[in-house]
Amino acid sequence: MAMRLDKHLSNSGYGTRSEIKRLIKKGVVSVNGEVCKNPAHKVLLTTSITLGSKQINSKPMSTIMLNKPKDYVSSNENEAGYPSVLELIQPPHPKYAIAGRLDVDTTGLLILSTQGDLIHSIISPTKDITKTYIAKVIHFKAESIQSFFEGMTIAEEFITKPVTHLRVLEENKEITTLSIGITEGKFHQVKRMFQFVQAKVIDLKRVAIGSLQLDPSLEQGDYRELTPKEIRLIFQPSKR
Ligand code: URA
Repeated sequence: MAMRLDKHLSNSGYGTRSEIKRLIKKGVVSVNGEVCKNPAHKVLLTTSITLGSKQINSKPMSTIMLNKPKDYVSSNENEAGYPSVLELIQPPHPKYAIAGRLDVDTTGLLILSTQGDLIHSIISPTKDITKTYIAKVIHFKAESIQSFFEGMTIAEEFITKPVTHLRVLEENKEITTLSIGITEGKFHQVKRMFQFVQAKVIDLKRVAIGSLQLDPSLEQGDYRELTPKEIRLIFQPSKR
């Protein structure tokens, strides 16, 4: 499948989209032996590309951070008319496992890996890894904050663990923007916790898993390989 030269280079781990655009415009990238100054030039995975004197390597990545867009499902198969997030990954690599599910309308940090044991450790309830979300909520009342630090019964016989933090970031007319940290991953958990206090989540984005933050330079649908140091950050307690 053809894709933009700048997107391909950034997906392959050679820099952010804006860094790559600058390099391309400087004339240091060649496509099939010819300097190419157009970041939107379409290339294939098989196209020969050099950056300076370096041949670009497009081998499949092992562990990926993806900025999930809306209208994609975080499972290996397409579901309910929505494509799988795996369709965003070039080249398609059927062996990726996905660490936990984000709802079809949730955006943000999703980790995919060819290493099943790594995915297991991330989602294991015994590891207590904090997932941090930014939620835009309507009908939120400050007096309900305490309930998030107590158990909430959000499903039959499921009582939530206390949140690791809940902080109001912004109040704008009827919309409250909050940062919330949870260590569990029950279906629709954040939405149901707000529902419990008669509030409604209208937008949800995951911004961190443990201490690993979503790279702000990744546009929705973009991804890049994680470094071993970043993988270790997943298992370090989150900074709030
Ligand atoms: N909680 C939710 O309600 N939805 C998500 O996608 C993730 C956490």
